[in-house]
Amino acid sequence: MARIQIAGGRPLDGTVEVSGAKNAVLPILMASLLTDQPCGLSGVPHLKDVTTTMELLGQMGVEISLGDCFRVEMCARELAGDTAPYELVKTMRASILVLGPLLARQGVAKVSLPGGCAIGARPVDLHLKGLKAMGADIHVDAGYIVARAERLKGARVVLDTATVTGTENIMMAATLADGTTVIDNAAQEPEVVDLAECLITMGADISGHGTNTITITGRQRLDGYDYKVLPDRIEAGTFLVAAAMTGGRVRTTNARPDTLDAVLGKLEEAGAEISIGEDWIELDMGGRRPKAVDVTTAPYPGFPTDMQAQFTALNAIAEGTGVVRETVFENRFMHVQELQRLGADIRLQGNAVIIRGVEKLTGAPLMATDLRASACLVLAGLVAEGMTIVDRVYHIDRGYENIEEKLRQLGADIRRLTR
Ligand code: EPZ
Repeated sequence: MARIQIAGGRPLDGTVEVSGAKNAVLPILMASLLTDQPCGLSGVPHLKDVTTTMELLGQMGVEISLGDCFRVEMCARELAGDTAPYELVKTMRASILVLGPLLARQGVAKVSLPGGCAIGARPVDLHLKGLKAMGADIHVDAGYIVARAERLKGARVVLDTATVTGTENIMMAATLADGTTVIDNAAQEPEVVDLAECLITMGADISGHGTNTITITGRQRLDGYDYKVLPDRIEAGTFLVAAAMTGGRVRTTNARPDTLDAVLGKLEEAGAEISIGEDWIELDMGGRRPKAVDVTTAPYPGFPTDMQAQFTALNAIAEGTGVVRETVFENRFMHVQELQRLGADIRLQGNAVIIRGVEKLTGAPLMATDLRASACLVLAGLVAEGMTIVDRVYHIDRGYENIEEKLRQLGADIRRLTR
């Protein structure tokens, strides 16, 4: 199993290009199921979750291939299947995103229930509630969601929580429904907006995306798409936190500053100097130690839960005490015990951690547990004295393209060990 080894203590310095956003690529690839026309998506990062999605769509009969660098070509001319199998869904919960498109396209879909994951129960009840409101007959049989609908009907769906993939599933299904669907308390994440923009290029009639009320009027059919995905705000944020923690200076290119307001505000509070352009963000820490910041995660435009672990690591070496509160997932602090192994002074209290910054961390062997926790451990390794080895880095490969190459480019002493 691959591991990442880091010799800490070097300030990062340089420029790094941000890859396409994983959490926009996945639903947009699934949207190819909504049409029998060719689709092409550019700016796709080479990630495990992307190859898993391509495998899933291929199993359904979608002709799919990797075009030139970072481009995926697809055509769901004839669907040869209606099932998202457990073997794939258990490795990638986002497989649930085939449910809406398959149901809308062919009237039947069987998707393995994703089951829980390391960061929480992560039910999909709101996805099912929305599709039922649109007339789908849905039941669970032997661990599979079985959904059927002659033709979905437009409906008003009020989401109890602003679920990101729930909003995406219902929005995709609604593009081919008979009538108008209104999603209230919809997720406003930039990835939801990017999916909506892509669907609109296919001929979908969507408005309100980016607000908490999205209106979709169904069409008889949709065209294909030729689209470029937006940059990954979480990858960009992760590199900027790495620069802040190491006292360095990093410019992230192919970035979207407008999708990172909450994160950039917290980095400035931590004492970083931030400058931005249309498609770049630069953080200069000037050799200073960051100041501790308080963070509470929330649905967009609030502070993103996917940046919580990274800021927990920043607070671990910051000046002062910071409180990090997690309100989106119920168990997203697995990185805390690992940070304590490096000497971090962190106390867990309910859904919050109180972190008293220490002058230095000491390198040690660590175990990654989930995607963003593993990124946090790599960041901590960049500042810990001595050697840190992060095990189970398959977690990190799900969401970060060549992270060790990008960090090495910025001056880190980091390499991948394969045994
Ligand atoms: C998406 O997950 C992202 N994944 C996650 O990114 C991200 O952390 C999360 O949104 C929150 O921003 C993708 O987009 C592929 P939710 P999702 O449904 O859609 C509860 C990463 O690191 N809920 O918005 O699964 C749920 O339990 C990953 O890239 C229900 O109760 O998250 C959670 O507490 C991790 N019922 C809250 O809503 C439902 O039917 C938010 O979950 C659906 C969700």
